Amino acid sequence: MPNATVLVVDDEPLIRWSLVNRLKEEGYRTVEAGTAGEAVAHHRDGVDLILLDFALPDANGLEVLKQVKETDPDTLVIMLTANTDVGTAVTAMKQGAFHYANKPFDLDEIMLLVDKALETTQLRREVRTLRARQAQPYGPGSIVGRSEPITTVRNLLNKIAVSPASTVLLTGESGTGKDLAAKVIHYSSSRGSKPFMNITCSALPETLLESELFGHERGAFTGADRQKRGLIESAEGGTVFLDEIGEMVPLLQSKLLRFLEEKAFKRVGGSSDIRVDVRVIAATNRSLEEEVKKGHFREDLYYRLNVMAIPLPPLRDRRDDIPLLINHYIDAFNTEFRKKIRGVSPTALTALTAYAWPGNVRELRNAVERAMLLAETIELNETHFPVLSAHHGGELSTGINLPAGGINLEGLERSLVVQALERAGWNQTKAATLLGLNRDQIRYRIEKFELEKPSH
Ligand SMILES: Nc1ncnc2c1ncn2[C@@H]1O[C@H](COP(=O)(O)OP(=O)(O)OP(=O)(O)O)[C@@H](O)[C@H]1O
Ligand SMILES: [Mg+2]
Repeated sequence: MPNATVLVVDDEPLIRWSLVNRLKEEGYRTVEAGTAGEAVAHHRDGVDLILLDFALPDANGLEVLKQVKETDPDTLVIMLTANTDVGTAVTAMKQGAFHYANKPFDLDEIMLLVDKALETTQLRREVRTLRARQAQPYGPGSIVGRSEPITTVRNLLNKIAVSPASTVLLTGESGTGKDLAAKVIHYSSSRGSKPFMNITCSALPETLLESELFGHERGAFTGADRQKRGLIESAEGGTVFLDEIGEMVPLLQSKLLRFLEEKAFKRVGGSSDIRVDVRVIAATNRSLEEEVKKGHFREDLYYRLNVMAIPLPPLRDRRDDIPLLINHYIDAFNTEFRKKIRGVSPTALTALTAYAWPGNVRELRNAVERAMLLAETIELNETHFPVLSAHHGGELSTGINLPAGGINLEGLERSLVVQALERAGWNQTKAATLLGLNRDQIRYRIEKFELEKPSH
């Protein structure tokens, strides 16, 4: 196991030195302890395996073994005993030691034991992660939340999954769970054992996207030296997920519309119709209605997609779910990082619940992940969440008081957008960050207020 940390516990400096030297040669990280007290303290910092001498000055090895196993049953312990007394070795094994070695020991033999032991833990961990993953392979339960808006979404997804509805549109800001929702629909439907094909419409240039989706015939264009099936064909019986549909160019929009209506299409360069049975799920974080108004998106395709539209609510509209999501991710990362974080302090939780979460669930997940990587404490607090620091305006964004005479909300919004742009030197990404928005959201406002960078 690369990067594993081995703790060497022995009161004889020479024995420690020879073990540590050899372990380092084999590529392990090492920590040393000369007493039982030191051993227990180092163990708490996180080690994978312990080479543990039986006779220590302040306690015997079995006591250390007991404490170690209580703190973390996964830690591997190999007992080193000068004692020819088999009884001690047997007791150690009974109390959870992985193995024992008699002193004077053969270094090669010890290294073999270490390798073998670490291999076992790695396997054990992999099995555990796989099991955890398999337990909920995108079942409806993978959508965390009990608030009313998310309950509505979950019910809709369940209904759609079992309905024959062939087309679904998922809308919502970035990070609200559109990818997740698409997988939930697919895997809870009777199509679940068939392919789930995923393509991001903005990721490819137009011509490539067309042949990726619909395939091409041999000789359709330069370089097309053989026939190729497209994604839609390969998804037969399953689901095609078209992400960022708002970015699809008009030519392809027409071809997609025809496919949705007739369930048939032609490969690029082909003349005969191909029929397939797939469900199309499209997603966008843009307002397709706006794109239609601007002439970027076909109105007929929009109406076709909008028949079965599911808007995913932003996290700030379902704040009751924030504590649930935080705990959900603490559990998940505890397993992944082998940590034992118990939760979030009450003040931090209040602040996190009040925060605007412009990046929605994705931002929350990343914030918890980062906090858990940094935390040395058993409870997460405000210092572990940089988004809560004052300049993020967490308080202002929920605590502004409406003056008695009312305000001009549009005017206030415009003024804040202008100020952010000026402060950011008209860098849209930076300005968006100052406002807790994403780039699309600030672009939308720049267009709405017809703002232009001064030309001097
Ligand atoms: N209700 C939820 N419960 C649990 N996890 C969620 C929920 N919603 C989203 N997530 C998680 O948040 C992260 C972001 O979600 P996802 O990728 O589905 O967002 P998205 O809407 O597709 O965003 P983008 O528009 O940026 O593509 C993922 O890790 C996803 O599993
Ligand atoms: Mg997505």
